[in-house]
Amino acid sequence: MRVLIIGCGYVGLPLGAELAGQGHEVFGLRRSPATDGELRSAGIAPVLADITKPETLARVPAAYDWVVHCASSSGGGVEAYRQVYLEGMRNVLAWLSATPPLKFVYTSSTGVYGQTDGSLVDEASATEPAVGTAKILVETERVLLAAAREKAFPGVVLRLAGIYGPGRGYWLKQYLAGGARIEGDGGRVLNMVHRDDIVGALQAALKNGRPGEIYNVVDDEPVTQFGLFQWLAGCLGKPMPPSVPESPEPPRQRGATNKRVSNRKLKRELGYQFKYPTFREGFAIWACQRGGCAVITL
Ligand SMILES: NC(=O)c1ccc[n+]([C@@H]2O[C@H](COP(=O)([O-])OP(=O)(O)OC[C@H]3O[C@@H](n4cnc5c(N)ncnc54)[C@H](OP(=O)(O)O)[C@@H]3O)[C@@H](O)[C@H]2O)c1
Repeated sequence: MRVLIIGCGYVGLPLGAELAGQGHEVFGLRRSPATDGELRSAGIAPVLADITKPETLARVPAAYDWVVHCASSSGGGVEAYRQVYLEGMRNVLAWLSATPPLKFVYTSSTGVYGQTDGSLVDEASATEPAVGTAKILVETERVLLAAAREKAFPGVVLRLAGIYGPGRGYWLKQYLAGGARIEGDGGRVLNMVHRDDIVGALQAALKNGRPGEIYNVVDDEPVTQFGLFQWLAGCLGKPMPPSVPESPEPPRQRGATNKRVSNRKLKRELGYQFKYPTFREGFAIWACQRGGCAVITL
């Protein structure tokens, strides 16, 4: 297959490397040539364009069998989200409209679920987040799903949970740096997924994802903040982080929601089997010989 990966960062780069290793012809689109060498050594042909600038896309041939759209605003506020996610999606769809791919997979976020009551949510649950950035993600999904419905564009949405993996992991890093805090009673549920499982789920969606459908990509064990720290403290023989009152302001970009996200549809429809079914495997913990201490690698 001729594959384009829009956004060759933490997720896009290893995905591209894996697809190239399988013999696909892989192109990686991003704004800066700084990572050209990294892409080439992964077997990915660099393509320079900015999805917020349609004139830069127009210079690039738009003929691909598979397209994965996993560009990220890398934080930023509502306006950055609007530009990169919403306007970026509109520009990409317009660019591909004359020569649509066989499959187009977009990485959205479980941040679109605004639930705060700890309930179980699936792909049919309401997406009414309170936070402005998450509202933009909802709108972006709608643009793609409307194209799938009205123009038979082969778009599939993957809603990714909090990503961790080599070099990345918000909660673990906070804990290891001594900066972690238990908010309130620590009952807020965290939904996470290892990067390698995102790479696996993206491939499953490219092959078997149904256009117009949404699949959550989250591991088997959403865990409370308290439960995660308790497990880390037990493994490492270190104290629990201190407790602080719950902040009325959402402390993080995608909002302080509280829900358990289901991965049932991903497993049932796409037959996806997780490499890291829970954070316990994913955080790669090996007990030391002495005193229950442990080594954690990311
Ligand atoms: N982090 C999380 O926990 C989380 C949770 C849910 C969903 N997601 C989603 O997962 C996806 C992958 O995230 P990631 O962590 O792999 O992101 P990342 O490491 O920040 O990589 C983003 C890539 O997008 C490119 N990019 C950014 N703006 C662009 C633009 N205007 N035009 C073209 N390329 C652009 C960047 O390259 P240049 O800077 O060179 O352009 C970079 O290669 C994103 O869609 C993100 O929203 C992340």
